[in-house]
Amino acid sequence: MWTAKKLEQRFLDFFKEKKHAIIPSASLIPENDPTVLFTTAGMHPLVPYLLGQPHPLGKRLANNQKSLRTNDIEEVGDPSHLTFFFMLGNWSLGDYFKKEAIEWSFEFLTSKRWLGLDKNRLYITCFAGDKDAPKDEESAKVWESLGIPKERIFFNPKEDNWWGPAGKTGPCGPDTEMFYDTGKEKCGKNCKPGCFCGKYFEIWNDVFMQYNKTASGKYELLKQRNVDTGMGLERTTAMLQGKETVFETELFKPIMDKLDELSEKDLVKSKRIIADHLRAACFILAEGKGIVPSNVEHGYVLRRLIRRSIRHGRLLGIKGNFCRKIAEIIVEIYGKDWPELKKNHELIYLELEREEERFSKVLSNGLKMFEKILRKEGKISGKDAFLLYQSFGFPLEMTLELAKERGITVDKKVFEREFEKHQQLSRKATEGKFKSGLQDYGEKTVRMHTATHLLHAALRKVLGGHVQQKGSNITPERLRFDFSHSEKLTKEQLKKLEELVNEQIKKAIPVERKEESLAEAKKEGALAFFGEKYKPGKVSVYTIGDFSKEVCAGPHVKNTKVIGKFKILKEESVAAGIRRIKAVIE
Ligand code: ALA
Repeated sequence: MWTAKKLEQRFLDFFKEKKHAIIPSASLIPENDPTVLFTTAGMHPLVPYLLGQPHPLGKRLANNQKSLRTNDIEEVGDPSHLTFFFMLGNWSLGDYFKKEAIEWSFEFLTSKRWLGLDKNRLYITCFAGDKDAPKDEESAKVWESLGIPKERIFFNPKEDNWWGPAGKTGPCGPDTEMFYDTGKEKCGKNCKPGCFCGKYFEIWNDVFMQYNKTASGKYELLKQRNVDTGMGLERTTAMLQGKETVFETELFKPIMDKLDELSEKDLVKSKRIIADHLRAACFILAEGKGIVPSNVEHGYVLRRLIRRSIRHGRLLGIKGNFCRKIAEIIVEIYGKDWPELKKNHELIYLELEREEERFSKVLSNGLKMFEKILRKEGKISGKDAFLLYQSFGFPLEMTLELAKERGITVDKKVFEREFEKHQQLSRKATEGKFKSGLQDYGEKTVRMHTATHLLHAALRKVLGGHVQQKGSNITPERLRFDFSHSEKLTKEQLKKLEELVNEQIKKAIPVERKEESLAEAKKEGALAFFGEKYKPGKVSVYTIGDFSKEVCAGPHVKNTKVIGKFKILKEESVAAGIRRIKAVIE
């Protein structure tokens, strides 16, 4: 019987045989990268290496990466869409290219030694070509050489067969996708690979990252040709087990069973939404990076996932708080392979319970307001529904539900018009915020990144060796550094930190990079709180004189003199035992 665990093991064994180093999953919360809130694919943490920096473990890598995408959140509830998912991937960093990547995908899928799928049921899509890049005849030829007839190879435009960049700028390229025919009837004349009716199961995507999208929208050739592949673990497991949905596999079945037990109504879509969203929420909280439900950035996504689950819990008729009950099952299913869930289970339960309490208040306040408006006006207009949503966080579905109970109707169109107006405004604000696109590692970001190392070292000198990095986030405007420390910093301490960092900048110290084993690096006193992620092999160590030594993927400036003047803007608490410093360079 195929299990997700077995599939993962086989995938990694296969690529080990093909001389790939197996790297652990990177954090769900990207470090030092402001272009996205969450890691959306395995390539994301590898961007510096796709751009040409040597990876300490070589040119061939593979892993199982925790990923989170919220752009498809509205699709969740169908048989296969998820926000959080595991992605199996293999990478060539300027090493092999199309021929080997496709031949290995084919071998893994069809060889009896590996997945043993029927090659006659394999369908392929390739990039059709446009003004930016030519038609990918090369990939199609490789597929044909492996016995896939032309009739089963389709060519599609960029929307379907081009991947990346993960942010606004960065590595990207044409891809070739593999689909498996389930044998079901076509849903119509136009049904072909890529259709979501369930006939064709999407299994794997090989991306040929040969281009770099620049801030002006140009596609430039990268200095090296890379391969980036992604296979959805949940979907492929479902397919191998002959299940129609990911929710029937061992990855979700115990969660769905618990929801069956708790629910009064049988709304399968709501159950799937809760299973997906709470799984995502548990994995975000398990990162232990001080992210808690809030109204901004990561915290907002987390809040949305939890509140949407609670809302669907109500639709199912679940009585009382239930998020913790589901989270306990999630920790049970995944805790062995993902120890962060076990380690942080108390925090996960606590934050879920708190958010559930807060949202109950929102709901009861909204309910009071609803009654008040109704008493006063005798109806609930679309505008009222929007006001309830915007000012009280009261969801439209709840308003509609209450209205229905009282036999009144709410003009949804008016609500939607108001909502869209508001969305456009907030989208504009967000676009403004992320416009600068840093996937290309703007030189200001690099300067801030080196300043972050100086700050980290300075913190340990001023506050003590207990200080550890808990998170770091850089935008062109500021750097943000979270670290373990339980008290508010004094004015004197903040001043001392600034002085220490600025001294190192003034001293014009060269920043040196070398590769060594993690054990060697640690012996030499390098900070490696995030380096722990690396399995045996070489890591990059950045040294700044005798002031700072840290295991890090880079990139960094060559000499501290180019950093500029370092200034702390703010120091605050983010969670119990974690402080945050926001700083700029001028
Ligand atoms: N990065 C590619 C994807 O996510 C492999 O599909």
